[in-house]
Amino acid sequence: MEVFSDIKGLRQYLKSFQDQRKSIGFIPTMGALHRGHLELIKVSTKANDITVCSIFVNPTQFNNPNDLKNYPREISKDIAKLEGIYCDVLFIPDGKIMYRKGDILNFDFGYLEEIMEGKYRPGHFKGVALIVAKLFNIVSPNKAYFGTKDLQQLTMIQKLTQELFFDVEIIPVETVRASDGLALSSRNLLLTKEERNQAIDLIQALNEAKNKLYAGESVLSVKEYVKEYFKNESLIQLEYFEIVDSEFLNNIAHFKPGKRVSLCIAGQLGKVRLIDNLSLN
Ligand code: PAJ
Repeated sequence: MEVFSDIKGLRQYLKSFQDQRKSIGFIPTMGALHRGHLELIKVSTKANDITVCSIFVNPTQFNNPNDLKNYPREISKDIAKLEGIYCDVLFIPDGKIMYRKGDILNFDFGYLEEIMEGKYRPGHFKGVALIVAKLFNIVSPNKAYFGTKDLQQLTMIQKLTQELFFDVEIIPVETVRASDGLALSSRNLLLTKEERNQAIDLIQALNEAKNKLYAGESVLSVKEYVKEYFKNESLIQLEYFEIVDSEFLNNIAHFKPGKRVSLCIAGQLGKVRLIDNLSLN
């Protein structure tokens, strides 16, 4: 695997592939890689001539300084994992080259910043968009892979790509889960053993909500059920549970089987914030 920490070196390396019209697949990450990340990379290596992964813990997307400080960093383990699945290129930029003194650019994603993750993590999507736009311009990938685990991030990146005419195809990849259903996340590393066992309450609530909707319960009563469940039966402090259309993420008032609907949830477990979602088609 070729490893670059500077923009010029990476661009020069990729140029020869671009000149030969080889396809480049790109997976941006913040490291502490797990099977979810590795799945994105495997899907890319199957579909592209060359796969580029980036690892950068992006400070502008952290609204909470402690979250940034505690975010797991495991670079040598990550490199070994990437080599194990034949990733071709790794870009690990130094923070100083991604954000320079005097930078002023800012994005605004309108309503997407006011709902769910946008509401609970002010400024988060502005930071994600900034770093992804910078990385797209550096790597110039043909395809970029994002997990549906971060559904709102995926929606925001699709808007970013369309509105700025980035010549890149955004490929969503299904959430990879542990055998008990917990969505894999780098932040799971920060859970105590007991918290790790409690964390499955999120997916259990989502599955229960799904069954209730299919059984004909109203959106309102399912929302009420989930709220009560976390109030009375879980150590997770619920931040939100929303039933939204999967494309624009607007709240829906009524559920009709066959419509693309997503159930989105977030909560705080000890010091760790967890999110998950389930799509119903
Ligand atoms: P990070 O949390 O490291 O995730 C990198 C990519 O892996 C994202 O597209 C995310 O949705 C995907 N991913 C995470 N957990 C997954 C799982 N269990 N199954 C499948 N895919 C999963 O998301 C970010 O980093 C950052 O915001 C980033 C886009 C890199 C910008 O800094």
